[in-house]
Amino acid sequence: MSAVLSEALVYRPMAAADVDAILAIECEIYAHPWTAGNFRDSLQAGYSCWVIESGGFVVGYGVLMIGVNEAHVLNLSVAAGWQRRGLGRSLLTYFIEIARSCESQRIFLEVRPSNRSARALYAETGFRELYVRRNYYPADSGHEDAILMGLDL
Ligand SMILES: CC(C)(COP(=O)(O)OP(=O)(O)OC[C@H]1O[C@@H](n2cnc3c(N)ncnc32)[C@H](O)[C@@H]1OP(=O)(O)O)[C@@H](O)C(=O)NCCC(=O)NCCS
Repeated sequence: MSAVLSEALVYRPMAAADVDAILAIECEIYAHPWTAGNFRDSLQAGYSCWVIESGGFVVGYGVLMIGVNEAHVLNLSVAAGWQRRGLGRSLLTYFIEIARSCESQRIFLEVRPSNRSARALYAETGFRELYVRRNYYPADSGHEDAILMGLDL
């Protein structure tokens, strides 16, 4: 898919040249951020990797893995100063559209139980909590569970 224009925000495929800007945001908003290698591997693997740009600056991004009959949101992030303006919801909705267009039957994602804002977004978008993956994420205290959420498409 090509770049999509939405008011002042541009949605376009992520490029390797975006990784430095993405990492700066990643380190700002996550205690346990993805590495440059995680993003480069996602690009190399051909995952659906997108950025949201405003005025030439990356303000949000995400990674969607499309598999056979199902899709998986691997990363969904909005820069700290841009949160709570609808960008996270619009990127998630966009990922759902991409998954539908690829004839995915279901879309999944994991979320930390402590991430109340993301859980609220996913629940209001229609995702249901399916089960808990124990000790899935690194955490300051060792590990934190992940809630696997899914949405039938
Ligand atoms: C989670 C995240 C992607 C949401 O994106 P966003 O652009 O900030 O959220 P939106 O403005 O689209 O909000 C959509 C809904 O999410 C929920 N939400 C978002 N931020 C919230 C907050 N701080 N507190 C409570 N609910 C929140 C609300 O239900 C909101 O709907 P409302 O504004 O109508 O009440 C973004 O906050 C983020 O990048 N957080 C840090 C990284 C992260 O946790 N990513 C998800 C990993 S699973």
